[in-house]
Amino acid sequence: MNFYGKDFLRILDFSEEELRYMLAMAARFKEMKKTGQNHKFFPSKNIAILFEKTSTRTRCSFEVAGYDLGMGVTFLDPSGSQMGHKESIADTARVLSRLYDGIEYRGFDQKIVDDLAKYSDVPVWNGLTDECHPTQALGDFLTIQEHFGELKGLTLAFVGDTRNNVANSLMAMSAKMGVNFIACGPNELRPSDKIVKKCKPIAEKNGSTITITSDVASLNGKADVIYTDVWLSLGEPQEKWGERIELLKPYQVNSEMMSGAKDTAIFLHCLPSFHDLNTSIARDVNKVFGIKEMEVTNEVFESKRSLVFEQAENRMHTIKTVMFLTLYKKEDK
Ligand code: CP
Ligand code: NVA
Repeated sequence: MNFYGKDFLRILDFSEEELRYMLAMAARFKEMKKTGQNHKFFPSKNIAILFEKTSTRTRCSFEVAGYDLGMGVTFLDPSGSQMGHKESIADTARVLSRLYDGIEYRGFDQKIVDDLAKYSDVPVWNGLTDECHPTQALGDFLTIQEHFGELKGLTLAFVGDTRNNVANSLMAMSAKMGVNFIACGPNELRPSDKIVKKCKPIAEKNGSTITITSDVASLNGKADVIYTDVWLSLGEPQEKWGERIELLKPYQVNSEMMSGAKDTAIFLHCLPSFHDLNTSIARDVNKVFGIKEMEVTNEVFESKRSLVFEQAENRMHTIKTVMFLTLYKKEDK
């Protein structure tokens, strides 16, 4: 398997074997970190991380993973650079690929990160676009694998806005790993036919299924993992809150939904999450719409079945793996 020089733009660009290899290596990196083993493999490399949308986990994961690998890391956003307003992303990429060994990008259209990769001479890593969030799915599957031991045959139910970036990458990763994927949400927010058409044959080949449903009751007794995400994603207009709340209220993950899942089921969320009123957005929404919890209740979020912070940690180990594999040249050893 050779990952050297490759971009990491979407899950579907990688084979089942490559993705499994990444998960195994991420587990190894996690162990190295926990046991304090030095893994500063790239003391002469530097990376640039570009964020056109805000971030806590993804930014910090790239930074910490970069430092752990011995690299220098430069963070750029539109407010502190020319990016986006004075210089196009494509020009920015061509400049940065002369200076850096790898580039991460978080932003809007998938085409932007695809173009970045096209124009850049160094690996480009997708840190979230409107279409997908591949490093998230990798971290999530490490979490699921750690918890259940085996992935094949499990059922992951993504509940809520099933056409969003996180859902798309989870569907792709489920198909690749032979995990049954259920997208459960309102018809108005169904996954695109394009992504379903791409994932279904892959799932079939790997012995799993993809189900699209609006019926919450159909999850009963089936799900090993209940996964949800925010009802309004980064970059979507605030005016949509009312419409989304109306559509998605029946899909809130609460104790009733969790008790319908398998007894051993876990709860996952990519975070950040609106499970209480401790954020300014949640308080603003509460003032207008009167709801105190959104996609998940505080009870479920704080329960023993919730592995959301393990998930957040695993972002770092998996991102480190992606950077290591795409930057490591065997001859350099
Ligand atoms: N899950 C995730 O991508 O979080 P951030 O938006 O904080 O990076
Ligand atoms: N769907 C969310 C994921 C955040 C990690 C968003 O795009 O805002």
